[in-house]
Amino acid sequence: MLFVSSSIAALGSLIAFATFANAQSSTSPFYAANPAPTPAFLRPGQPDFLPLEHIYSLINYSTVATRDLAGEVGQDMIRRTKVEFGGVEERSELEERSKKSKNRKTRVQLAIAATCVDTGANDTHISSLFFYGGVGTTVYLCPNANITITAPIFFSAASQTLATQGYPTDNSRAMITVTGASQSVAIFGAVGGGNNIAVRNVQIDGNREGLGLIVGGQALMEMGGDNTGQVIDSVHAFEPRGWSCLHAIEGTNLDCSGMKITNNEIGPSGHAPSGTLQFRRRDNTGSYAAGQWADGISVACKGSTITGNVVTDATDGAIVLFGAPGTLVSGNTIQSVNRQLLGGVNMVDWAPFSGSFEGTVVTGNTIWARGNFIKVGIPMGGMVWGVDNRTASRTFGGTVTGNTFLADTGYFGYAIGSTGHANAVVEGNDATGAKFGGVDSPACFTQQFPLPTPQAFVRDPNTTPGSTWQDGFYSLATLVLLICKGPNPAS
Ligand SMILES: *[C@@H]1O[C@H](CO)[C@@H](O)[C@H](O)[C@H]1NC(C)=O
Ligand SMILES: *[C@@H]1O[C@H](CO)[C@@H](O)[C@H](O)[C@H]1NC(C)=O
Ligand SMILES: *[C@@H]1O[C@H](CO)[C@@H](O)[C@H](O)[C@H]1NC(C)=O
Ligand SMILES: *[C@@H]1O[C@H](CO)[C@@H](O)[C@H](O)[C@H]1NC(C)=O
Repeated sequence: MLFVSSSIAALGSLIAFATFANAQSSTSPFYAANPAPTPAFLRPGQPDFLPLEHIYSLINYSTVATRDLAGEVGQDMIRRTKVEFGGVEERSELEERSKKSKNRKTRVQLAIAATCVDTGANDTHISSLFFYGGVGTTVYLCPNANITITAPIFFSAASQTLATQGYPTDNSRAMITVTGASQSVAIFGAVGGGNNIAVRNVQIDGNREGLGLIVGGQALMEMGGDNTGQVIDSVHAFEPRGWSCLHAIEGTNLDCSGMKITNNEIGPSGHAPSGTLQFRRRDNTGSYAAGQWADGISVACKGSTITGNVVTDATDGAIVLFGAPGTLVSGNTIQSVNRQLLGGVNMVDWAPFSGSFEGTVVTGNTIWARGNFIKVGIPMGGMVWGVDNRTASRTFGGTVTGNTFLADTGYFGYAIGSTGHANAVVEGNDATGAKFGGVDSPACFTQQFPLPTPQAFVRDPNTTPGSTWQDGFYSLATLVLLICKGPNPAS
């Protein structure tokens, strides 16, 4: 999540990041979605496709029990390849035509779905099956497969699904392993005409541990865009080389809606500076310098549902809401075991919804400092992360109720901290099972703005108008930069 870097950089040039300008544009369906202003960075290249003849040998015709099987399947594929790869309108025309020959389309997809893609296959293979299969294609990966990729797997039409055959939820889920030298994206679903695309029951190893961080790298899964109803379910995704495990992109005109992000296991993701100089690259005393944080789930797609996920050892925001008005975040578990986390459920980003969190509900989640430090369980407002005190920069709206904060050997700076956020409802949250600790980072601005003693609920009365607060909030004027709380020296 970039807000931390840019706001801190604005303060003291501690961390420099390039702008997020999206230099590339194209009429291709693969660039129909424009992720700015949530981080775009290096966009993946266009996919390569295998020649049609090659596809024949990769799919299983034995379930297609009709006459002239390969011939009919081939006919349909040829019609798809004849359409130039580059226009949404042409593609819809194609889809209209394939509706008229429904049986033929079904045969292609039956043949693809009867084939599980095993170890040794690659991104080009899988992207090609989606491309030739068209709308509604399911590509199954074989259980226990380990598919190494050097470029992202691209979806190319609506209602396509990538899943492990049999939809297992354990370690037999196929592994997709990032191996490209400059690759951070494993799956790209923010394509034109990509409603209802689904990624289910697979594992994705972003391979940061093997190949290293990519500064400015995109998320491991880049989904959403100008689409509605995409699904990420029962996916285990970890160690992204870029800024997040999963990015639900807002779309060109904030068109994305209704993403379902359910039952996933996310993380570890990124690294946090382990010394007390939390935002200074130089003089760092810990194992990791600043600037290597990464999110778990980053959502800018409005009206989404984020439930039943377990986010473990994310380091920036575990679940980051870029406003995403109308989104429900419930029944998730966020835990820090071995890595320090800045924010559990972040409600701090003004872009891209101009501050609005209206209709966003964060309820019944568990945020759990099992073995490490969580700076703020639920940060609300841009001033938790920075110092921009203009009324026009306020975030606003949203309901935060019935969340539980727990600690074992870990601890929180604050359970809920709010400053620079208006018109929210905060009720019935329980931090009686949490512990609190941390020291002010000497590399931050805490001499000017001393932070309150670590405790459950803190807010700034001057910058949080129009809200309803549960009992027990400590009010402190000039409350800023709660993420300047650093870990206890001994930890
Ligand atoms: C092809 O599909 C049939 C029917 O589902 C299945 O029995 C067979 O194992 C498949 N063959 C391969 C090589 O996947
Ligand atoms: C990807 O798989 C296809 C199909 O088996 C193969 O022809 C191609 O050479 C592979 N590409 C790479 C980079 O290994
Ligand atoms: C998958 O293959 C890669 C490359 O050979 C290897 O580094 C990785 O450990 C494998 N993952 C699993 C789960 O086998
Ligand atoms: C922010 O502005 C408000 C007035 O809108 C003021 O009362 C408050 O002290 C300011 N806070 C900081 C940290 O400057």
